[in-house]
Amino acid sequence: MPLSVVILAAGQGKRMKSDLPKVLQPLAGRPMLEHVIRCARELEPATIHVVYGHGGDQVREALAGQPVNWILQEEQHGTGHAVMQAAPGIPDDHTLLVLYGDVPLTRAATLRALLERGPDRLSILSVRLADPTGYGRVLRDTAGKVYRIVEQRDANRKEQSIDEVNTGLMAAGAGLLKGWLSRLSNDNAQGEYYLTDVVALAVKDGVRVEAVLAPSTAEVLGVNDKLQLSQVEAEYRRLRAEALLLAGVTVIDPARLDLRGDVEHGRDVQLDVNVILEGRVKLGDRVRIGPNVLIRDCEIGAGSVINANCVLEQAVVGADCVIGPFARLRPGARLSAGVHIGNFCEIKNSEIGEGSKVNHLSYVGDSDVGSGVNVGAGTVTCNYDGANKHRTVIGDGAFIGSGAMLVAPVSVGEQATIGAGSTITKDAPAGKLTLERSKQVSLDGWKRPVKK
Ligand code: UD1
Ligand code: CA
Repeated sequence: MPLSVVILAAGQGKRMKSDLPKVLQPLAGRPMLEHVIRCARELEPATIHVVYGHGGDQVREALAGQPVNWILQEEQHGTGHAVMQAAPGIPDDHTLLVLYGDVPLTRAATLRALLERGPDRLSILSVRLADPTGYGRVLRDTAGKVYRIVEQRDANRKEQSIDEVNTGLMAAGAGLLKGWLSRLSNDNAQGEYYLTDVVALAVKDGVRVEAVLAPSTAEVLGVNDKLQLSQVEAEYRRLRAEALLLAGVTVIDPARLDLRGDVEHGRDVQLDVNVILEGRVKLGDRVRIGPNVLIRDCEIGAGSVINANCVLEQAVVGADCVIGPFARLRPGARLSAGVHIGNFCEIKNSEIGEGSKVNHLSYVGDSDVGSGVNVGAGTVTCNYDGANKHRTVIGDGAFIGSGAMLVAPVSVGEQATIGAGSTITKDAPAGKLTLERSKQVSLDGWKRPVKK
């Protein structure tokens, strides 16, 4: 049976106390709603409908690339009202799965278990919580059959003591669910159309209701305020770190690793504390990442070491390189094997050939550096004339003395040597020493100034 998913994302999220709509609040660097859409896509549904409202344009813009059908809920009259907005577009012979934009950690496997129960009944995902405050409670009769969900604000004392709560996620045949939706009323503490009331309606119609217990509380945590957001973030961090550990990566402290994207890795990779990996990151065998390192969208070759306090973004690092401490690789930095980039060096949009070294306080931008090149301390490729960027080319085996300014466009030939402190504005030929300095003079009779 084809599947239609409805994701509820129209709420304001008052308790966030933020100008950013709740479903755009970032979890692991990406909007919460994006995590939910991603999970839904794993189920390969016919359509994903996202019901949006609060911060409408902002939400649509932030997730413009997503393959979803946007449905505007102009005024928010509750979760039931939200699903009603999507209902007309969903064929009766589909299975309808409702997800919440503020419940971002659910796994596809858990949803499959919910869907497995079949479309001839109403399946809700529930969970037992040590502190159920704020959630809707699942009411069961003496035989254990679910007969109603009661919201926190409508629950009496006895009902409030129940620890089995509604996660909000549910599935049923679309025809059935649409029928119940049309019969909802808003006669409750919040004057809203509660989706949860379909449970009582299903029971009334003699349709079986089943509450499936979620395998873990973590994956059904709802986010209503920044405290819960931080708890979900911590949970996400833990889950990702645990997955890496089980895949053979050494993580010095799983609580101090932030994995915010997709990581591919080889064997015997080691990650020290406070490492942040974002976007698409590929780590070869035996790569070691030191403490306090941010890596975004990079590929790092086997055996390379990234020392403490480096920032790498859209860079490719070959095998057996040594980077940092305190190095910055910016977009377009492409390092061949065995390259060393040392402290306080910045590399941008440059190729660095095999075994070359840029070890101290240098800027190499828009450059093609050959192999076996030594770039001395404090060297700058002056790539920008205030209007345009120009390239610097350095041949194999060249030696750039410390403090050289290479004013691009300029090239330094193979095996050339540039004297320390030179400002090179014309091409330097291969194999020769090129110098550009004023003569050193020592003045007789010169006196140091003294304080008056
Ligand atoms: C809801 C459930 C509650 C459950 C809890 C789990 C209802 C009535 N209550 O309560 O049983 O324990 O989730 O987290 O369903 N939304 C809309 N349009 C609206 C109202 C809400 O799209 O008019 C969206 C919100 O953006 C949010 C989701 O629906 O993503 C849940 O709404 P929220 O107001 O947070 O419901 P809860 O009070 O948490
Ligand atoms: Ca909620």
